[in-house]
Amino acid sequence: MNSAFDSVAENYDATFTQTKIGKAQREIVWGYLESVLIDKDNLKILELNCGTGEDAVWFSKKGHTVLATDVSDNMLRVTEIKARKNNLNDKIETKAIDLSKINEVNIDEKFDLIFSNFGGINCLTFEELFKLPNSLSRLVKPGGRLIMVIMPTFCWWEMFYFSLKLNLKNAFRRSSTKSVKVKLNGEEILTEYYTPILINKVFGKEFKRVGLKPVGFFIPPSYLKKFFSQKHKTFNFIKKLELFVTNWSLLSNYSDHYLIDFVKK
Ligand SMILES: C[S@@+](CC[C@H](N)C(=O)[O-])C[C@H]1O[C@@H](n2cnc3c(N)ncnc32)[C@H](O)[C@@H]1O
Repeated sequence: MNSAFDSVAENYDATFTQTKIGKAQREIVWGYLESVLIDKDNLKILELNCGTGEDAVWFSKKGHTVLATDVSDNMLRVTEIKARKNNLNDKIETKAIDLSKINEVNIDEKFDLIFSNFGGINCLTFEELFKLPNSLSRLVKPGGRLIMVIMPTFCWWEMFYFSLKLNLKNAFRRSSTKSVKVKLNGEEILTEYYTPILINKVFGKEFKRVGLKPVGFFIPPSYLKKFFSQKHKTFNFIKKLELFVTNWSLLSNYSDHYLIDFVKK
């Protein structure tokens, strides 16, 4: 499938996944996932908006099987190459799925865990988001988990950084009632921001919330990577601060992302 993310795919790992900020934010997510996956073997995982497959490889190295899906064919291609390089072809299958049309997709399996990392959900309009719980509920086993990492409507780092640059439009762009055009590697991506409360309301009929945590309260958004690239000591200190507040769920409202964890009712 064609997507605005196609042109981003080739450089995505170099410009996000492998950067200090990208790695530090993902470590927070993986830390949480470790606690959920502990003592669990050979789970069936459906990954939504898998991007370049970094998480799919991580899950499958732990012995789980992953159906890694994304709207962008180029992202899926990078995932396939990564799976081959890691000898994980038998653990990772890829499939083109547009989240906004997931209700039309034929998947017979049911999964132990559905996972969406780093803002794929923010690419959906409210109308599309609203239809998601019903479709996902049909794909998850009873008692199965749905874990999503989403961008909220306010990020103090973003407000601070763009205010310093006297760019008030971007400082408060997350609170906009309209879709926001966000630059990612030169590509403009239409983005919506959703509070944890709203996500809880939208998914609350089919799913019960069991976890919420900030991802990137002290660790800044990835567009600050240049600023921090040589500031090793400062960045290590920031990572320590992040770990200190990692269980303060209220901070999810002010972070770059938050992780929200549901169990199927
Ligand atoms: C910021 S990237 C995150 C990628 C990956 N989850 C990660 O952790 O690095 C957002 C991903 O969402 C995908 N995406 C955007 N809109 C989508 C949609 N409607 N359906 C499925 N995937 C979508 C993009 O192609 C991109 O791979």
